[in-house]
Amino acid sequence: MEGSSEPIIRVEDVTVAYGDSVVLKDLNFQVKHGEVFIILGGSGCGKSTLLKHMISLHSPVKGKILIDGVDIVTAEGSELREILRKIGVMYQNGALFGSMNLIDNICLVLEEFTDLPRDATETIALMKLNVVGLADSAHKMPSELSGGMKKRAAIARAMALDPEILFLDEPSAGLDPVTSAQLDDLILELSRSLKITFVVVTHELPSIFTVADRVIMLDKNTKTIIATGKPGELRDKSDNPWVRQFFNRQG
Ligand SMILES: Nc1ncnc2c1ncn2[C@@H]1O[C@H](COP(=O)(O)OP(=O)(O)OP(=O)(O)O)[C@@H](O)[C@H]1O
Ligand SMILES: [Mg+2]
Repeated sequence: MEGSSEPIIRVEDVTVAYGDSVVLKDLNFQVKHGEVFIILGGSGCGKSTLLKHMISLHSPVKGKILIDGVDIVTAEGSELREILRKIGVMYQNGALFGSMNLIDNICLVLEEFTDLPRDATETIALMKLNVVGLADSAHKMPSELSGGMKKRAAIARAMALDPEILFLDEPSAGLDPVTSAQLDDLILELSRSLKITFVVVTHELPSIFTVADRVIMLDKNTKTIIATGKPGELRDKSDNPWVRQFFNRQG
């Protein structure tokens, strides 16, 4: 889906570091309302780190991260909570809670952020599982699910609070190509039907060409963004040969 021109996220002059070790510096980019925005780059270049900063799990050394116009770097208390409610996250290693069935996994998130009674949270949880095609598995434990089902359940959990933005860190990792393609379809469906904005970290080229409106590519050596744009344009027209090669990898 083509995003509208209004940015929902603005990253301005952001530098991120662990202690003295700078991971990315002076980043500037925007994510538009309703777009599927993909973060690319080699292992260890800082994709997960950037994502964690965009959800206020870490604070940058410098710069602003505006979500719906509010700088989450400086926001506090109820203002920050309000913004975080608009965000759903699936972490790279973000497993479901293994000791709880799928309904309870989702109800837990709802109980943390709302005062809804149990029958209401259960109804919402079931609705979310229905959206990802897992209503029949609502009472199953995570250990009873396939890898693809676990990912879909984690997306259902990330959607518990009807987020405006979903952050997914390598959702297709470890999945076979068919299951990975089904996940792409789910992302596109959620993007089109619910107008959710997606920020997705992935390495999967087929996925990128299927779902991405725009991508940024991070580079470990320069600690900067080395490419921004539509995947087709970067494949054909990037002035960086390495970037062109990446997008041409599998033909
Ligand atoms: N909690 C942490 N404390 C210190 N250094 C960290 C921490 N997390 C990540 N790093 C370092 O920051 C750099 C970027 O890591 P990050 O996990 O963001 O990379 P990535 O692009 O997500 O890699 P991958 O594709 O392997 O998931 C790496 O050098 C990593 O060792
Ligand atoms: Mg990562």
